[in-house]
Amino acid sequence: MSETATGSVFDVQTLRRDFPILGRELSGGRPLVYLDSAASAQKPRAVIEKEREVYENYYANAYRGVYDFGARIDEELEASRAKIQRFLGAAEPQEILFTAGTTMSINLVAGAWGRPFLKPGDELLLTEMEHHANLVPWQQIARETGATLRFIPLTTDGRLDLDRLDEVLTERTRLVAVTAMSNVLGTINPIDELARRAHERGALILVDAAQSVPHHPTNVAASAIDFLAFSGHKLFGPTGIGVLYGRRDLLEAMDPFLCGGHMIAEVFRDHSTWAELPAKFEAGTLPITQAIALGTAVDYVEQIGFDAIAAHERALTTAAHQRLAEIPGMQIHGPAIEQKGAIVSFSIEKVHPEDLAQLLDRKGVFVRHGHHCAMPLHEHLGVPATTRASFALYNTLSEIDMLVEGIHFARKKLRLTGPDPT
Ligand SMILES: Cc1ncc(COP(=O)(O)O)c(C=O)c1O
Repeated sequence: MSETATGSVFDVQTLRRDFPILGRELSGGRPLVYLDSAASAQKPRAVIEKEREVYENYYANAYRGVYDFGARIDEELEASRAKIQRFLGAAEPQEILFTAGTTMSINLVAGAWGRPFLKPGDELLLTEMEHHANLVPWQQIARETGATLRFIPLTTDGRLDLDRLDEVLTERTRLVAVTAMSNVLGTINPIDELARRAHERGALILVDAAQSVPHHPTNVAASAIDFLAFSGHKLFGPTGIGVLYGRRDLLEAMDPFLCGGHMIAEVFRDHSTWAELPAKFEAGTLPITQAIALGTAVDYVEQIGFDAIAAHERALTTAAHQRLAEIPGMQIHGPAIEQKGAIVSFSIEKVHPEDLAQLLDRKGVFVRHGHHCAMPLHEHLGVPATTRASFALYNTLSEIDMLVEGIHFARKKLRLTGPDPT
């Protein structure tokens, strides 16, 4: 490990070799500049190899076979669950439920906690920066139960306006459902304070940690979080696997969300009884290999360490802000660098985000365009779509330069002024 120009404590070029895809050259000799890790992160060799190891050596269904492979699979799955428990600071592994991802985790809470426990007059407190995954399930449950949705307003620079929290957090609030980090603005929300204020009012807190887990340490116990959801694929792990953390007493009080095999204690012709946690919420066959490899992804991130990741990503985000500000007509959305993570969303006067994304692709620069599953936030921003560059531990300062050069190229192309820079 060596100090680099970015001030981080790992050598990014060495680290990039852990990610086979980053060594690829695109057609036409274009380099690959992957700036879409907020949508899904690339996978280190250790994760890819772990999946291969399982399939090639001891694959079998989980929690069913007493034979050699079955026992090994169960051991590996529980080892992964225990790693995730430690990673999240949860009290016990039974509070870690494997799900299909953040969307599924939040739907589970909406369906198994919201549907039976909410009633007319109750309020759910969300924010105007939520991803649709932490908004639409609550809209549906509110419709079904007669509960009302309320929203913590945003400041003009895209932070939660906590000065106005008491207007919306009331004695009727039953749950505060909030993202730890905005997938558009990068805003890092004050989860500890929100948890404290929610609990003072007798409400629970659900944290959508989809964007925060790859960048910052999480501790559900220290932050007094009741439910927390994240997706494996944004944490350098496989797709199809995610996690719901839930406090034991809450999970115990909830009925299952999905029903079928594995989640039962006993089944009679006319009724069934439920298995203990976590099986009660893990009906059917799990994404076994993916759940095991998610543990490997956690190991990978922990071995690098969040201090080093944060230092590296701060350097990237600072450089991106500085360099993008050079571009005429540029508007960067969201708060100052101190209050945000490694996401930069922006608008450029007279440049449509989709055109920009297509032209950047011609330079091998992959960014995301659109509403990023956050339409109410874009309404707040007053634009239908933005362009988003998001960074991870494997990005480099020269990739920021390539983003900026790509934008200059796109502006020339779109305005058809000056010589063709290709
Ligand atoms: C903040 C946030 N919440 C939830 C999700 C949904 O995650 P998934 O599609 O993995 O369920 C995303 C994905 O982009 C996200 O950024």
